[in-house]
Amino acid sequence: MRSSILFSTWAAGLAQAYTVTNVDLFMFKNIDPIMLPGQYTSHMHSFFGSDAVNINTTTSAELQKGCSTAENPNDFSAYWVPTLYLVQNGTHTPIKPMRFSAYYEKLNEAEIAIPQDFRSVAGNATAQSQSGVEDKAGIEWFCEGDPSEDKDEAAFPTSTCSTHLQTLLLFHDCVNPDTLESAYSQNPHYYSNYGDNWCPNDMKRIPQPRFSIRYDLRSLLPDGWEGQPPLELACGSSYCTHGDFINGWLLEAAENMLADPTKYEFFAVDGPKGEYNAGSVCGAENAKDSDPTHGTSDYAESVRMMKTSAAMKRHLAKHRRWA
Ligand SMILES: *[C@@H]1O[C@H](CO)[C@@H](O)[C@H](O)[C@H]1NC(C)=O
Ligand SMILES: *[C@@H]1O[C@H](CO)[C@@H](O)[C@H](O)[C@H]1NC(C)=O
Ligand SMILES: *[C@@H]1O[C@H](CO)[C@@H](O)[C@H](O)[C@H]1NC(C)=O
Repeated sequence: MRSSILFSTWAAGLAQAYTVTNVDLFMFKNIDPIMLPGQYTSHMHSFFGSDAVNINTTTSAELQKGCSTAENPNDFSAYWVPTLYLVQNGTHTPIKPMRFSAYYEKLNEAEIAIPQDFRSVAGNATAQSQSGVEDKAGIEWFCEGDPSEDKDEAAFPTSTCSTHLQTLLLFHDCVNPDTLESAYSQNPHYYSNYGDNWCPNDMKRIPQPRFSIRYDLRSLLPDGWEGQPPLELACGSSYCTHGDFINGWLLEAAENMLADPTKYEFFAVDGPKGEYNAGSVCGAENAKDSDPTHGTSDYAESVRMMKTSAAMKRHLAKHRRWA
């Protein structure tokens, strides 16, 4: 029940100004330039957007040099989420989403464009139950278009989806333009250090990124499922759902997001590289891992690399103690 109420709130939210771009997957890889910079020891992630992303990426300018898989040719952002696996007989098979959509919502409430170099993580990668899930991240898993199920919002549905399995994830919508620190907006009636813009006093409202990901399981699981589906995220159960975002929108297009004259519906964000739906300038199918000789796209290998790294850290800690 709660799930359907949240969903309709989101649908009502879309009666405000928003834009959206669909973005193709171009690699599975065991890196995370925000949480584990410089390392090849992350759990597996699915990457969408600019293929310039690597273990060291920190700026929009770096991403803008890459080939992006976004349908909006002005979007060179890097988007990543833990890879979803089908687990059968102990074998992990990565599932490519049917569609990954990056929404930017509440354009009409934004005070400033999403700053260049802005980056953000939404969700709790270590959560193992609904109580560890951050409320403001609005995480949901559900069967698109099917009657809603009475379950934890962040749990997988317990019976076969008639069409797609869908998940939603919401990012920070307040940012300090100088430090790029960010937060979720909150009602200032309840939070005294929040301003009329619903942001902490030193922050401004920005368009709010939201991931919406659809998976088509019909050919992978032709007999469907009852109870827990044979699915796992690279970080664990569905509760660890999270997402990472490094802004790569060309400055002019990021600013155009705020130029919507209608203020209440879909807004086509055009920019220097073309109209909002012109497609990737380099061809999305040409995007590829820019650092192919390091790290892995294989689940079992990523688990080995995480274990080796943990053992190495234990070893170093022990030797530091004895030194
Ligand atoms: C990341 O930075 C390190 C340290 O500067 C460098 O050795 C390495 O080659 C860089 N890796 C990539 C993929 O750019
Ligand atoms: C799993 O293993 C069983 C028994 O070995 C086999 O019959 C079945 O086809 C396997 N399923 C998959 C999806 O590999
Ligand atoms: C994330 O989940 C872990 C494990 O449940 C929990 O200990 C931690 O408090 C959670 N973090 C947040 C910010 O809720």
